Amino acid sequence: MVFNKLQETVSFIRSRTSIKPKIGIVLGSGLGAFVKEVKVETTIPFRDIPNFLAPTVEGHSGNLIFGHVGDHPVAILQGRNHFYEGHSMETVVFPTRTMALLGAEIMVLTNSAGGFGDTMQAGDFMIIEDHINLMGTNPLMGPNIKELGPRFPDMTEAYDRSLIEKMEVVFNRHGTRFHKGVYCAVSGPTYETPAEVRYLKMIGGKAVGMSTVPESIAANHLGMRVAALSCITNLAAGISRRKLSHEEVTETAREVEQKFTLFLKDFIESI
Ligand code: HPA
Repeated sequence: MVFNKLQETVSFIRSRTSIKPKIGIVLGSGLGAFVKEVKVETTIPFRDIPNFLAPTVEGHSGNLIFGHVGDHPVAILQGRNHFYEGHSMETVVFPTRTMALLGAEIMVLTNSAGGFGDTMQAGDFMIIEDHINLMGTNPLMGPNIKELGPRFPDMTEAYDRSLIEKMEVVFNRHGTRFHKGVYCAVSGPTYETPAEVRYLKMIGGKAVGMSTVPESIAANHLGMRVAALSCITNLAAGISRRKLSHEEVTETAREVEQKFTLFLKDFIESI
């Protein structure tokens, strides 16, 4: 059923573009401006794509964009569907699966996250080295779709080590502050309580957010190499005295947009 839908989606997209993406890229909240750095060939709004849903969250545009970054053919998901919007996990990971079936071997996932690593400041970046899935579910639950991957996928290197090293090289070259650490995924849509943030810190996390992990799991299932990056848009609840708001998150994302865009361009070119 899911596989049939994917095939329908892929054949629609193939009728609209001749680009065979090598890299799939998901742009998180407020990080959509990266598209300016892309030699765009085709833009397809999510609402025109069979089995895709238009995102409902402010700061997410909802376009699938095909083009080149340097020599690499890429497909960019400008916006994503979140679990907290009430979508099924199947819906949340559908675009990632589509990327793989279009031929992408690498998935680059970006997001906005709350940070609680010791020296973190709003506006920093964090390379995701590993994750803890606290969403209470998993996109691979239910009958395994064997055309996509194995029943029990290995997650030992969910985030590709060589891609992590490449991200470090680019950050160092740019002189941009960055951290490396474990991303904790929660369902949202509430931000965390200070007690929850203390717990996340105790179990080894450095950042928390409401996305990315489902896509990462689906991509690993598909045998893709995954790179993931958080923009620390705010210190997580209780780390500073400030209350959290979506406005603060999108405002910080906008402030770092330029740095983020230049980073992503150089990183993609370095792959
Ligand atoms: N918590 C969860 N998700 C987030 C946060 C946060 O503090 N900031 C941006 N996305």
